[in-house]
Amino acid sequence: MNSFYITTPIYYVNSTPHIGHAYTTIAADILTRHHRQRGDETFFLTGTDEHGSKVYRVAEEQGLDPKTYVDQIAESWKELPRLVDADYDFFIRTTDDGHKRFVQEFIQRIYDNGYIYQDVYSGLYCVGCEEFKAEAELVDGKCPIHGTVPERIEETNYFFKLSAFQQPLLDLYDARPDFVLPRFRYNEARSFIEGGLQDFSLSRAGHPWGVPVPWDESQVVYVWVDALINYVSALTYAREGEDLREKFWPEVRHLLAKDILRFHCVFWPALLLAAGYEVPKQLFVHGWLLLDDTKISKSVGNVIDPLDLVDVYGSDAVRFWAVRAVSFGQDGNVTLESLHERYERELANDLGNLVSRTTAMIARYREGRIPPATGDSKVAEAIDAVKREVPTRLDVFDVTGAVDVIWDLVRSLNKHVEETKPWELAKDEARSAELDRVLYDLADGLRVAAVALSAYLPQTAPLILQALRQPDDLAWENVEPGRTVPVEGVEPAAPLFPRVDRAPLAAA
Ligand code: MSP
Repeated sequence: MNSFYITTPIYYVNSTPHIGHAYTTIAADILTRHHRQRGDETFFLTGTDEHGSKVYRVAEEQGLDPKTYVDQIAESWKELPRLVDADYDFFIRTTDDGHKRFVQEFIQRIYDNGYIYQDVYSGLYCVGCEEFKAEAELVDGKCPIHGTVPERIEETNYFFKLSAFQQPLLDLYDARPDFVLPRFRYNEARSFIEGGLQDFSLSRAGHPWGVPVPWDESQVVYVWVDALINYVSALTYAREGEDLREKFWPEVRHLLAKDILRFHCVFWPALLLAAGYEVPKQLFVHGWLLLDDTKISKSVGNVIDPLDLVDVYGSDAVRFWAVRAVSFGQDGNVTLESLHERYERELANDLGNLVSRTTAMIARYREGRIPPATGDSKVAEAIDAVKREVPTRLDVFDVTGAVDVIWDLVRSLNKHVEETKPWELAKDEARSAELDRVLYDLADGLRVAAVALSAYLPQTAPLILQALRQPDDLAWENVEPGRTVPVEGVEPAAPLFPRVDRAPLAAA
């Protein structure tokens, strides 16, 4: 049995979730569900990043002590996966005792291995990024992501010898050309490493909020180091009495957006090597969702609340739109009009109507009985394409390309209805066998589409199988022509995607 362990970034709790966060969570869930269908042993980790200056400051602004603040807001972050039907295995919070203990153990190992030293640091710190910035990275003296002037910080703290890992990282990238996907992100990470790696400070002096450095409790671990370690720490305490590292490390795939590429593709493998761990199996770096060509983000203020969208369209439609609106990996502009348009055209018409028509025809022309298959399938080719291409595409995280292939099947079924005109066949007793074949093929194609789409549309897929009175077995091996059971009792199905009024959603 293969192991499939996937992670989302752990999200900062300085504000509540928006559609950009939901985006990564949805993609991770689609991949997990698909691997589960293939019989892999899966583990899906998501959670929250609760230390650092920016969280501390928001708590202060609200007059709360940081622990009270994070405990409150963590609830709305736990809602996020539920809202978009993401079936995660563990929700990590960096304030968990199990995590804090492990962070200390992990950096103690790096210290014992000789990769940490003390020095004075003087530099410009962007609290929004939780990162020191070089003068050259600033635009008009401001952080290009947050548009704020970074703070000058000078303190004695502990440094991580990142420079010692330049060659090992280059060797790693050379040995594993698919370590980072897509390829242009691999190139970006590799050229950053090639450009020379500077040691960075791994602790902050005099901070009241964070994980204490084990050998010097006057300092806390730098929030990014604390955060990255979650991907391993979770495995040590997610299941009581079990150490999941044996099963899932280093079989891990990290999903993240391009703004945190360096931390994940450079710093993280170096930290792992320094602590004596194997590096991750793979990292996939996706683009940004943009609204009016601007990144959707709290600091810009153009956030879309996933709750608003799910309320109107349902979680399946939001999941579908998220991966279809933008090719996964690229940046892309999204609009709420496009969500509405796709809902009507693709979900309600292409898929929903097809289910209604097929079940209605089976009910009407064959008294609710799916006829047994005789002769050759006319939909086998489209089904074979799904069987062949969807796993291949999802193996390279192409959640957009994979659903395109499934949609080709859905469209070809619609075309089949138009071309064969079952309502005319039904008028001619002599063509009864032809009609049987058409109805079987439609049911068979829809059954396969439902199984293949179940990773994307986890609520709708079982409804399609029920409408066709087929077993609700989502195993990938059922993506195969001719497995539809000739059953009785099919009735005209209720619309899967009822009409909704265009939502009066504001974008801010
Ligand atoms: N806490 C760090 C991550 C630590 S991981 C060890 C962090 N948090 S964050 O709250 O800013 O979340 C960033 C992540 O949210 C991105 O990497 C991406 O997965 C997701 N996104 C947030 N806004 C997004 C868009 N507008 N578009 C696409 N993804 C977005 O960084």
